[in-house]
Amino acid sequence: MEVTYQPLRRADAADFGAFLAAESWPFHAGGPVNREQVAGKVADGYYDSASVRTHWILVGGRRCGFVKAFDLDDGTPLFDLRIAAAYRGRGVGTAAVAWLIRYLFKLLPDIGRIEATTRADNVAMRAVLRASGFVKEAHYRQAWPDSQGFLHDAIGYAILRRDWISGSLTPVDWNDDAG
Ligand SMILES: CC(C)(COP(=O)(O)OP(=O)(O)OC[C@H]1O[C@@H](n2cnc3c(N)ncnc32)[C@H](O)[C@@H]1OP(=O)(O)O)[C@@H](O)C(=O)NCCC(=O)NCCS
Repeated sequence: MEVTYQPLRRADAADFGAFLAAESWPFHAGGPVNREQVAGKVADGYYDSASVRTHWILVGGRRCGFVKAFDLDDGTPLFDLRIAAAYRGRGVGTAAVAWLIRYLFKLLPDIGRIEATTRADNVAMRAVLRASGFVKEAHYRQAWPDSQGFLHDAIGYAILRRDWISGSLTPVDWNDDAG
């Protein structure tokens, strides 16, 4: 399986809107996607700016998802990763995160970490993050409302540059609050 990456261009606005609107994204807030609204945001530079870079993910040359890195000018980038349902469970998400880590650590030589936050019940994303060298750093109770207003727990992960280089996992000191 050949996975490749292509910068999202403003000229892709209509295709990107159509891609997002064609799928349901139950782990993302905001309900159904409005394709014209998304296309407008692409055209306005929302997905590609000083602080945001978005790439299509292609499998065998077909666009099957995207990864959007954001807060690039904030010291610690975060990202959103979405794979079309027909391509999930084949290792594409894991391949994309490995690519993204290398891309961001090269693009931003001064950053020491990359963060990710996901809903507690997003078992696939949590598996991808664990497999990619991210360590759980936070558990936010009742922090992520879904479209019905139910409050899910949210989980914060991060990968350190030094762990990525050495292939190790620096554990969190969960017992530092002796009181
Ligand atoms: C989360 C997502 C990006 C994962 O990408 P993917 O290509 O499906 O993931 P992979 O095929 O690389 O699978 C990675 C792991 O997740 C597991 N997994 C995949 N889908 C799963 C599911 N529905 N339930 C449980 N585990 C699942 C795989 O078994 C694998 O674990 P393993 O390495 O221990 O075997 C993708 O499912 C997706 O786009 N989901 C909708 C959008 C979303 O929730 N994005 C995350 C935003 S924070």
